[in-house]
Amino acid sequence: MERRPLIAGNWKMHLNVADSVSLAAAVAAGSRDLGDRDVMIAPAFTALAAVAEVLKGSSVFLAAQNVAWEREGAYTGEISPAMLMDVGASMAIIGHSERRHIFGEDNEMVNRRLLGALNSGLVPILCVGETLDEREEGETFKVLEQQVCEGLEGVPGDRLPSLVLAYEPVWAIGTGKTASREQAQEAHSFIRDVLADLYEKNLAGQVRILYGGSVKPENVDALMAEPDIDGALVGGAALKAESFDRIMHFS
Ligand code: 13P
Repeated sequence: MERRPLIAGNWKMHLNVADSVSLAAAVAAGSRDLGDRDVMIAPAFTALAAVAEVLKGSSVFLAAQNVAWEREGAYTGEISPAMLMDVGASMAIIGHSERRHIFGEDNEMVNRRLLGALNSGLVPILCVGETLDEREEGETFKVLEQQVCEGLEGVPGDRLPSLVLAYEPVWAIGTGKTASREQAQEAHSFIRDVLADLYEKNLAGQVRILYGGSVKPENVDALMAEPDIDGALVGGAALKAESFDRIMHFS
């Protein structure tokens, strides 16, 4: 099953509008020669509209870093799928470990966000991943299975191929500690098996599963060589045009 690689930059809570616009312009220029892979960037909400302008005419996808489940209403501080699409976003990161661990989002809330995005036509990127304690206690697979199953509750099989998953071990995020290619491949292959059990093998084989956690120019080629690693969700190294450019051009 051929899956088109996706290299995604999560800018987190960094960059003002002007700096976001110049980084996005560099990403758009650098991605022009890439015909065999997709590129996505997720700026802060405040920069989405300006970045959308810069990306016009390029093939770079624009994503939000989170999304509400309702279309509108009394949800102070939230941004709806329709609002995101209105400013030009087509994808949304959902259930990032920082949302789960710093802001207390649980699988049920992640699932609501995911269904809201999917039903509005935004492509969700569902993030899953274990903490260091969970890994050391031998609970990695249990945690991943629960996050995938509860996160995807109510998603019909025919929608599965339009979803993206991201495996981001919490202990590898922003720490400089990358999962080894073997550890990442093992988790990705497990997640694909969970999808095959929940749906069917053919559908599971179409879902792109990204790896995130200290992806750098130095380790991207090895990670991308693994059969179940279909892309990268990049934090720190996505904030510099040069390093993200090298990551987009993984070989
Ligand atoms: P780092 O690449 O900085 O480790 O962040 C990964 C991440 O959380 C991407 O969503």
